[in-house]
Amino acid sequence: MHTKIAIIGAGPSGLLLGQLLQRAGIDNVIIERQSAEHVLGRIRAGVLEQGTVDLLREAGVGARMDREGLPHDGFDLAFDGRLAHIDLPPLTGGKRVMIYGQTEVTRDLMQARAAAAAPTFYSASDVAVHGLKSGKPYVTFSHAGQPVRLDCELIAGCDGYHGVSRRSIPEGVLKTFERVYPFGWLGVLADTPPVNPELVYASHERGFALCSLRSPTRTRYYIQVGNEERVEDWSDERFWAELKRRLPAPVAARLVTGPSIEKSIAPLRSFVVEPMQYGELFLVGDAAHIVPPTGAKGLNLAASDVSTLFNILRKVYGEGRRDLLQRYSAVCLKRVWKAERFSWWMTSLLHRFPDTDAFSQRMQQAELDYFVGSPAGRQSIAENYVGLPYEPIE
Ligand code: APR
Ligand code: PHB
Repeated sequence: MHTKIAIIGAGPSGLLLGQLLQRAGIDNVIIERQSAEHVLGRIRAGVLEQGTVDLLREAGVGARMDREGLPHDGFDLAFDGRLAHIDLPPLTGGKRVMIYGQTEVTRDLMQARAAAAAPTFYSASDVAVHGLKSGKPYVTFSHAGQPVRLDCELIAGCDGYHGVSRRSIPEGVLKTFERVYPFGWLGVLADTPPVNPELVYASHERGFALCSLRSPTRTRYYIQVGNEERVEDWSDERFWAELKRRLPAPVAARLVTGPSIEKSIAPLRSFVVEPMQYGELFLVGDAAHIVPPTGAKGLNLAASDVSTLFNILRKVYGEGRRDLLQRYSAVCLKRVWKAERFSWWMTSLLHRFPDTDAFSQRMQQAELDYFVGSPAGRQSIAENYVGLPYEPIE
């Protein structure tokens, strides 16, 4: 079997890249370890930056998002028992964000790919990439009990943090940057009406809390928990009681509770590898970088990597500009590091760290108070939250 671009992984990165390439007439094959149902079963974040929204529309998968997604003009920061509203459009030249779950983005992309009858291998096992610096790369895997060899021109490693692509790059090539935070997020999905029309990010002495939503009838809430916590120890009642304690009284009074549909704990991590390319292999999205979820940047950063790679590939295949392939990593990393900074900063600002002493606590409070009290501070938060501009490829 032969294709131009072999895409490893059918998460949002792989599916979006595949969809854009498909529309541009550039042959591609996706190889995914899990079944489509398994991929759709993952509950992930739900805030899309303007750039991501525009890219999904460009990919021809924006119709349901535009119908069902909820455009949000702002969010609240809660601290000291009060709420400070960040009003996005006036601070960002009219930009806003869209509330639309990653699961729904993935579903729309899968449907578009099926409609285009683009080749996709789900439930592939033993996926391996070969010849990364040979000029003739190929991918091998097993599918339905049969060994498959896929020859290609380039490989897009869209297989997430635990994937095979990054691990196939020889030792010593990549420089890794990492910060593991001493806490995680316990998340609950419930069919309850949202406590607030917009998101509330709450800093509280008992720890961080976030009120988010998927629709007018479905909510997603998170609380900061220690890394030693186990989800089995958190009954719904215990979760709702703890969430309530961390919200300002007027918000807590509006909280409607109900049975959880999903409940899980995710650790918080910042992680980047440099460079994001090795020979004919390009790392995209979570395969190359992880952000803590506080800034809602994970999916959006994946989308900007995809945009960069797609714009380069379009010129490679349309204009013979192979030279641009060498630009991929540097262009992506400029934006990646800025999103890493914002995610780290929001995390540091809003969470309780085990070693926070009285002085550090006052510093956190003063920083929050300063940022929300100053037009420059609010603008800085807003322009990062809606997403910094995409970097040009040349
Ligand atoms: N072979 C093939 N597929 C693989 C392999 C492998 N060896 N290892 C992992 N995969 C698949 C996973 O099953 C998953 O479906 O790669 C896909 C990677 O998807 P994500 O982890 O969702 O990563 P990405 O597409 O880059 O999306 C980034 O999704 O994970 C969130 O927080 C992240 O929101 C961000 C966005
Ligand atoms: C979510 O809705 O899951 C969500 C929203 C905002 C975040 C993180 C997660 O910053």
